[in-house]
Amino acid sequence: MATHGSEGASQTHGDEIPGELDATGRIFPDLVVPSLDDGPRTSTVIAMCNQKGGVGKTTTTINLGAALAELGRSVLLVDFDPQGSASLGLGVHPHTIEHSVYDLLMGSELSFDDVVISNRIPGLDLLPANIDLSAAEVQLVSEVAREQSLRRVIAPVRDRYDFVLIDCAPSLGLLTINALTAADRVIIPMEAEYFALRGVALLTDTINKVTERLNSDLGMLGVLVTMFDARTLHSQQVLARLLEVFGDEVFHTVIRRTIRFPETTVAGEPITSYASSSRGAASYRSLAKEVLVRCARQ
Ligand SMILES: Nc1ncnc2c1ncn2[C@@H]1O[C@H](COP(=O)(O)OP(=O)(O)OP(=O)(O)O)[C@@H](O)[C@H]1O
Ligand SMILES: [Mg+2]
Repeated sequence: MATHGSEGASQTHGDEIPGELDATGRIFPDLVVPSLDDGPRTSTVIAMCNQKGGVGKTTTTINLGAALAELGRSVLLVDFDPQGSASLGLGVHPHTIEHSVYDLLMGSELSFDDVVISNRIPGLDLLPANIDLSAAEVQLVSEVAREQSLRRVIAPVRDRYDFVLIDCAPSLGLLTINALTAADRVIIPMEAEYFALRGVALLTDTINKVTERLNSDLGMLGVLVTMFDARTLHSQQVLARLLEVFGDEVFHTVIRRTIRFPETTVAGEPITSYASSSRGAASYRSLAKEVLVRCARQ
């Protein structure tokens, strides 16, 4: 795998050093990652959810998935957005795929193994999606237990994976309700910009309703601040506000704004392989450890 430079490698990652102040102004914890031999392996399904567009859901799904795979975890990424961005970001062109998550959702004859695509990154599998999925939003409406369709797709295979990460579309429609019904935990990525909190009440209300009515196992894993620019007062003010609203739900790891992420989409691979020693890669590795520690605690 080619490594294309190492932007940021020479900077200190001061916000991710245990015992030191991080970008959120808290002490970065000593993250003791559970060893792979610690007790029975459980499977955790995490939905990346925010109806606001362009906040880093897909970038987080791909790079958190790749970072968890580096730590020896087996990971399934579910592209659950008709835009097919997670597929594209892993080098799978949505218009070239023969079968997609849509076929499994609609109960076709195909099996999971007919649809799943393994990645050149060991331990990382993908259930791809393309524009076909937009029809599911309409077609599922008349199905019995329409909110549980994705849960039914994942249930028989979840034992094969330590983590299933679902990349949601920017909407709170039936597809996203399916993702939340299939999930154990939610990560809310939020861009460090002025309108970050717009629509958050509706999002938390939706999560609460799914928890009450459809999936009592659902819980919040954390709020991830993305596209943070430490040089601007504006970014810092938004981060401070998110901390006020969400407190310790905000991950210590903060993802900085860097051109490296759009580049990875073009390259069709995660930042952890595209620019392995970059700051962005280090941040997603740090997030992976936080996720492992939070999941072990809950
Ligand atoms: N930390 C970052 N720094 C700079 N650019 C970023 C960062 N994270 C994501 N991006 C870029 O911002 C754009 C939106 O990111 P992404 O696709 O992950 O968001 P999304 O929430 O999945 O969007 P959508 O709602 O359309 O699905 C992409 O071009 C991505 O490459
Ligand atoms: Mg996306």
